[in-house]
Amino acid sequence: MDRPSKLPSDLVLPLPSKKSVAIPAGMWWTCRIQRRRRPLRSAPTEPQPRGVRGMDFEHMLSAVRVIPVVEIASADTAVPLARALVDAGLPCAEITFRTAAAADAIAAIAAAVPELHLGAGTVLTVAQAETALAAGARFLVAPNLDLDVVAFARERGAPILPGVCTPTEIGLALSLGLSIVKLFPAEAAGGVPYLKAIAAPFREVRFVPTGGISAQNLPAYLAVTQVVACGGSWMVKKDVIAAGDFAAIRAAATEAVAIAAGARVQR
Ligand code: 3PG
Repeated sequence: MDRPSKLPSDLVLPLPSKKSVAIPAGMWWTCRIQRRRRPLRSAPTEPQPRGVRGMDFEHMLSAVRVIPVVEIASADTAVPLARALVDAGLPCAEITFRTAAAADAIAAIAAAVPELHLGAGTVLTVAQAETALAAGARFLVAPNLDLDVVAFARERGAPILPGVCTPTEIGLALSLGLSIVKLFPAEAAGGVPYLKAIAAPFREVRFVPTGGISAQNLPAYLAVTQVVACGGSWMVKKDVIAAGDFAAIRAAATEAVAIAAGARVQR
């Protein structure tokens, strides 16, 4: 980069908002360097409200690395399920709006197990998002990217993981200021090779692959640099919850925690 022999006394730089700002002559060189260092495609910052224990959403995901995706038939099983996850060292769950018991289950966990990072999943409508937050959910997850649901979540300051599966959808999420997305359905879409291929152009995006994740393929997903966490139902199977076998859930969650702790990120 050639430094001009004569610096202008004042340089007026255009801003994206079409307003302009006067840069004092002495700051011009610094400004130019900083502008060059900015990433080619910069993501707007997603609001990161603080959740349980003061952790923001991305830090929470980085800490747990696994989101148990729960389909619950009866709210009566919600609290023992949540306690089994906390006991296993996996204090996080996404209660999906796939059953009529979802809102009551969220409310029961929020009241009795506040140390669990509690989200609502399969949030397809604004009404479900509203119900989930009113019941005590701290974050929202969806299989798709619905503009109204995203707008509502942002208005309410709730973190949201929208589902994406194509470069265009990732680009849309970025344009909405969302830099963490759920890749869904991860395995059916092509698994780890597909994830790596689709993530490559979007270096500032972090992914939560979900759909077909198991104890077997979890290490390979967590090894991908841009994967912040994985979601899955394998350690919280609905028939095991319905049978009240919370020892089995604790064991499966403990195994997931051990796998996550041992996962090596590829650099
Ligand atoms: C979801 O709702 O996120 C997925 O259905 C979870 O997928 P899985 O059951 O294959 O883990």
